[in-house]
Amino acid sequence: MPPEPEGLAVADPPVHEAAPPDPVEETVLALTRVWSDVRLYPVTHPVIAERLAEAQTLLESALDGRPALTIKNVDGDLVYGARRLFRSRPRPAGLIAALNRLSIGCVTLTRGATAEELSSLCRALAEDSGDLSDSAAVRRYLEEHAAQHVEVDGLMLRPDDEPAEQLPVMQLYDSTMDVARQVMQSARLGQRMDVAGAQSVTSKMVAEMTQHPSTALGLASLRGHDEYTFAHSVHAALLCLAFGDFLGMNEEELTHLGTAAMLHDVGKAAVPIEVLRKPAKLSEVEWDQMTRHPWQGALMLLEYENLPPIVPLVAFEHHIGCSYSGYPKVAHRRELSLPSLIVSLADVYDALTTHRPYRPPLSPDQAVAEIMKMADTQLDPRLVGWFRDMLGVYPPGTCVVLSSGELAVVCQTNHDQPERPEVVIVTDAAGAPLQRPSDADLAATGDGRPGRTIVRAVPAVEAGLDPFQVMAAWVERHHLPAKT
Ligand SMILES: [Fe+2]
Repeated sequence: MPPEPEGLAVADPPVHEAAPPDPVEETVLALTRVWSDVRLYPVTHPVIAERLAEAQTLLESALDGRPALTIKNVDGDLVYGARRLFRSRPRPAGLIAALNRLSIGCVTLTRGATAEELSSLCRALAEDSGDLSDSAAVRRYLEEHAAQHVEVDGLMLRPDDEPAEQLPVMQLYDSTMDVARQVMQSARLGQRMDVAGAQSVTSKMVAEMTQHPSTALGLASLRGHDEYTFAHSVHAALLCLAFGDFLGMNEEELTHLGTAAMLHDVGKAAVPIEVLRKPAKLSEVEWDQMTRHPWQGALMLLEYENLPPIVPLVAFEHHIGCSYSGYPKVAHRRELSLPSLIVSLADVYDALTTHRPYRPPLSPDQAVAEIMKMADTQLDPRLVGWFRDMLGVYPPGTCVVLSSGELAVVCQTNHDQPERPEVVIVTDAAGAPLQRPSDADLAATGDGRPGRTIVRAVPAVEAGLDPFQVMAAWVERHHLPAKT
């Protein structure tokens, strides 16, 4: 019998050339259609019911296991997490104008939102009577209509000392995603891959890290990406950059490592999609197809003369495993390259913390515990230990309960005091969400009194939190462009 299917393998990008529909954008567009139609038809009209059913279905798909979906209205841009929506298609200008008219900066849709609740939201946004003049009035309207799964908040004001344009690192993150997406699409279509683009965005990320060392780990902790290989590869690359920096690599070494991580799975372009996405055990034939992707990737990358030799080598070695128990099987064992061992580790960690159709994502601290079990067999034990040291007791993205009773998300590790990382507090002691989450350094002593401590980590689902949203906002606040 073949071994177990590659449990940590990630799904790959679609075979068609166009990008797949974005479920969050699709949900916004469906709500826009409802919003538009409730201004034309009575609420009982069949077309409204049809539109609402469509919006509800798309919302469930966009939630993808998360407890809530928050869409921000930032200066007329709709933003989900770290991502600006409608970058490559027309934005719903009418709906955005309605949000601006009512000074709404944030709409949160929670899992379980009914058609009636979505209808209430759209009717409130479409209300032109003058009764609803601002976000507070809309909130009251929603409360009166028992729409507890729908929330709106006012426009988020930027502190005076922050520049209006504060998303350059997010633009770099988006560019990196775009390059990775194009690379995988080209690989599938047998076209020339933009490997120079992959090197370029990696180099820019390394340069960003010289100004803000925590950039890569902060971005790698964003847990909203989909299941496509390109997104997984980007996150694996970010983890590698953070870890390489932690290990003391120089800029050139980091750029080579990051590029290798970005391109390590291009061989999956040669594996049938139904095999990559199969949630059950692979047949012998399918397993054979899957286990070819390392050397197929290496062969593809060897076509590019300007790539550092380590890049195809990492593609070839990333599943061999430190005890050679993985694949492909090699006739003559020799020491695996350090970048290959690092990419293997980042590959596994990111896969564990990613949502799959057949299992929820592990929290960062759970994923660290899992990779500890793989030390010696699959993963290099020294690297696993150092990786754990880098992430700390509570890795970025972990939801924690504080001694004060407040709920928080860890955003930055404190290597001197691992039990006291920097966090963003998101609820009060009674569990009520804060209107404006606040940053807290648990190592700071302030007025000399003992500060808050972490009582325990808690799964995001149990906490009813989307750490991705919190992390994205934190990265935006803390990674402003370097002053030139
Ligand atoms: Fe792989």
